[in-house]
Amino acid sequence: MKIIFWFPQTDASAWLHGLARALPDAALREWQPGDTDPADYAVVWHPPRELFGVPGLRAIFNLGAGVDAILAHEHERPGTLPGTAMLVRLEDSGMGRQMSEYVQHAVLRYLRRFDEYALAQARREWHVLAPHPHETFTVGVLGLGVLGAQVAQAVAALGVPVRGFSRSMKTIEGIETYSGELHGEQFDAFLDGVKLLVNLLPATPDTESVLNARTFGKLSRGAYLVNVARGTHLDEQDLLDALASGTLAAATLDVFREEPLAPDHPFWREPRITITPHSSALTLRDEAISQVADKIGALARGETVSGVVHVGRGY
Ligand code: NAP
Ligand code: GLV
Repeated sequence: MKIIFWFPQTDASAWLHGLARALPDAALREWQPGDTDPADYAVVWHPPRELFGVPGLRAIFNLGAGVDAILAHEHERPGTLPGTAMLVRLEDSGMGRQMSEYVQHAVLRYLRRFDEYALAQARREWHVLAPHPHETFTVGVLGLGVLGAQVAQAVAALGVPVRGFSRSMKTIEGIETYSGELHGEQFDAFLDGVKLLVNLLPATPDTESVLNARTFGKLSRGAYLVNVARGTHLDEQDLLDALASGTLAAATLDVFREEPLAPDHPFWREPRITITPHSSALTLRDEAISQVADKIGALARGETVSGVVHVGRGY
């Protein structure tokens, strides 16, 4: 079997060695623009459109959970993805634990008001602040998929009420679940009283700018926002306005419309916004290789695999 690999911002040789160890019978090559030799599988992150023209592709493995960069090619030019190839995304592969740690950290930081202590320290002020009561520090998790469900349970373990929202109804122990579309009554019921909103939705046309003034206005006043999904989910001006008006107290952002975030972006100057460089849950090489190799083996044996993206739905 022939496999092409594309992940330009990484050490390709380490990936190729790992894949070769896991799939000793495969002929592996790093794909380069202009390479039109046939291949059975592609293992990629943010590939250029041209890669999809490689003949013979049976499956494209995305080295991340979000497939928005690949589907953007398909939306711009329908038919870009080869009709015979399935698109398979990473499922957890070590990201659930990282994401849970990141969100737990943000929840504890705001619950115990460490963000305010950091600002007070910068002013050399000594004030004791009452922590938020656990019972009213309701955390809402938008998206209860592979990552959202784990994050919801990790946050619930901190002893705060947790609710979650997804398109289809879920049953998750210890979590109050809501389902529906992002503009219906169920969505508003989910938002009502939430003190900290975590976004773990995929970036699709339906979820674009869901973190907007209307959404913020439905939360508990002075709520917190944690966006770990995609920058396109957030209306940036609405966030700045919500912080200025007190609708929101603070935000932790890991993802941005433009990455890297431009040095003159106003978010850098807003002390109530905490910024990390799209690092809440990194793709871990060994875990990703093991998952992809297992799935390639299963497909080669004629078996089905999980994690296949529904292209029309966008995730
Ligand atoms: P997933 O398993 O596909 O879960 C997506 C969840 O969102 C599902 O529960 C789905 O509902 C829900 N959903 C999708 N569209 C919806 C809509 N219009 N209305 C309501 N709910 C909707 O994805 P995942 O593996 O958890 O990953 C989630 C996202 O996290 C990725 O797409 C990626 O953008 C982001 N991510 C970011 C990082 C980072 O480093 N910052 C790392 C990894 C992933 P159903 O279950 O009902 O379908
Ligand atoms: C990272 O952002 C991912 O989608 O895995």
